[in-house]
Amino acid sequence: MSSHHTALNRRILLAARPHGRPVPADFRLDTQPMPVPGEGQVLLRTLYLSIDPYMRNLMDEVGPGYAPPIAIGAPLVGGTVSRVVRSRHPGFQAGELVLAQAGWQEHTLSDGSDLQPLGDMARPSLALGGLGMPGFTAHVGLLDIGQPRPGETVVVAAATGAVGSVVGQIAKLKGARVVGIAGGADKCRHAVEELGFDACLDRHDPRLAQHLAEACPQGIDVYFENVGGEVLDAVLPLLNVNARVPVCGFIAHYNDTLAAAGTDRLPRLLATVLQKRVRLQGFIILDHYGERFERFQREMGEWVAAGRIKLREEVVDGLEQAPAALIGLLDGRNFGKLVVKVAPD
Ligand SMILES: NC(=O)c1ccc[n+]([C@@H]2O[C@H](COP(=O)([O-])OP(=O)(O)OC[C@H]3O[C@@H](n4cnc5c(N)ncnc54)[C@H](OP(=O)(O)O)[C@@H]3O)[C@@H](O)[C@H]2O)c1
Repeated sequence: MSSHHTALNRRILLAARPHGRPVPADFRLDTQPMPVPGEGQVLLRTLYLSIDPYMRNLMDEVGPGYAPPIAIGAPLVGGTVSRVVRSRHPGFQAGELVLAQAGWQEHTLSDGSDLQPLGDMARPSLALGGLGMPGFTAHVGLLDIGQPRPGETVVVAAATGAVGSVVGQIAKLKGARVVGIAGGADKCRHAVEELGFDACLDRHDPRLAQHLAEACPQGIDVYFENVGGEVLDAVLPLLNVNARVPVCGFIAHYNDTLAAAGTDRLPRLLATVLQKRVRLQGFIILDHYGERFERFQREMGEWVAAGRIKLREEVVDGLEQAPAALIGLLDGRNFGKLVVKVAPD
């Protein structure tokens, strides 16, 4: 029975702050009465909920700085493709599809300020993936910071994921040699055979560092940093003079507790940055919207329509599956951009 018929709204709340890897008890399924839009508001139904690594960061008491931590007892945050089901807002009509920040809930209210009309899209969920925030992150990080030139070597891990898969494919379009790193043989095969990477290495292989050196005989010019950890260890000795390292994320450490942080790698990292004159630049995609986003939408739209960039998604059914989906993403179990289908299109 759907909540629509019983006029109830299901949400998933943060029940407890995770110690290390999140567990199901850190989340709580909650039911509340269906919210009713006031003047100037719309009622949204979530069709697709994006599951992204940053959600883990926002579950901690001290957040990453660019967004406030989620309060205990509050719904988890998240980007959504939502349908306007009732509108008391002059700018939106019932039935319209929008990009929203509805979070982990079936319905929510909005005053419209956070909504982007999506129009008619063949695959609306792509607005959460390759045609949305993760794709934009790849585009900005690679082109504005990484700046790969033809013939250079680009390395990216989480290579079949939402960001990494787009990074590698754009780098190929720009004439670079692309080496991916991913979890397992299936993902590596996909990266080479479907996405067109020159090589892809299994991050679980104990000889990763040696294989990476063999796959990058000319060294590494651009390392798009998604993961940190052992991949970064393997990359550092191979960075060329004037290499560029867009620092996008370090998911290998998102479940770290202070006690488990391990050997301090900072001195080695700083030494490499200094000695190799590496431009190591962090960025937060929220800073880049506006005109830069329009350019991304134009270019990606064309590449995807022409089949030059392929976007793979993993769609999980039902809001109640969202916690397991996020836990799985942090374990590397997703294959492609992870979204939860909350209600039928
Ligand atoms: N700076 C920004 O504004 C911004 C915006 C979006 C995303 N990001 C960052 O971009 C990165 C990728 O995000 P995404 O949305 O594209 O997620 P994703 O790649 O679709 O999913 C996460 C992947 O990370 C990999 N992974 C998990 N644990 C790992 C470990 N210990 N070592 C190495 N890899 C591990 C897994 O892939 P394998 O098992 O295949 O390795 C997993 O599938 C994350 O670090 C995220 O925080 C940053």
